[in-house]
Amino acid sequence: MNNDKPIGIFDSGIGGTSIWKEIHQLLPGEETIYLADSKNAPYGQKSKEEIVALSIKNTKLLLEMNCKLIVVACNTATTNAIEELRSNYLVPFIGIEPAIKPAALYSKTQTIGILATKGTLSSALFASAIQKYSNTKIIEQVGHGLVQLIEAGKINSPEMHALLLSYIQPMIAENIDYLVLGCSHYPYLIPQIRKMLPDHIKIIDSGEAVAKQTKNLLADNIGFNSTKSRKAIFYSNTEATVLKGILGTDYPVIEKDF
Ligand code: DGL
Repeated sequence: MNNDKPIGIFDSGIGGTSIWKEIHQLLPGEETIYLADSKNAPYGQKSKEEIVALSIKNTKLLLEMNCKLIVVACNTATTNAIEELRSNYLVPFIGIEPAIKPAALYSKTQTIGILATKGTLSSALFASAIQKYSNTKIIEQVGHGLVQLIEAGKINSPEMHALLLSYIQPMIAENIDYLVLGCSHYPYLIPQIRKMLPDHIKIIDSGEAVAKQTKNLLADNIGFNSTKSRKAIFYSNTEATVLKGILGTDYPVIEKDF
């Protein structure tokens, strides 16, 4: 079964490129269109209604661009808006949620940490997801300020280092053995976080799982690109220097208001 239409991907900004990288690596023959809604970042502090409205705006644009599938590469948008998206549009959606399940399953200390946005941690979807793991102590930490610094290109700044330490040290003190990164921006912080954590604490994010899910959905229901186009187009609604820095020179970034 073939389907040569592109895969649409959106995030509140540049963070979802961590998911795009996994998808592009696993499915190199697929054409992708990525929307970085950096103008409206961070989503994590907005109300559910605002997050739903922004997710609908992004979906409409990706549908105008003829996408066969939409990956919501943002935990905050998934946990607040995916139900509304699925009930309003026929196109299949893949969402991204914090990887609590494997962390809770494999934790030996039965204590795990999660770093995510306020919007994700306060969502009804997240509350119902963690109910299943009542035997595991889940330490929730809002990553105040992290997305703003990443969007500003300050990934390796002293401010970032200080914020991360203040979020992570209390979790280490609580004896976590897994740290779940519940925001698609945060994989860009892994090298720094790794240095702050003792070796036995593992870091998990959801990128690889989302890429596998995308591949399965194409295989089972939608179809793969037969042209092996490899084309990847990025749209940003702000000045895109930081996005271009993350992607390198191989991929076009179009600055466009949306
Ligand atoms: N990257 C997003 C996430 O996965 C949202 C960050 C934000 O805009 O607050 O949650």
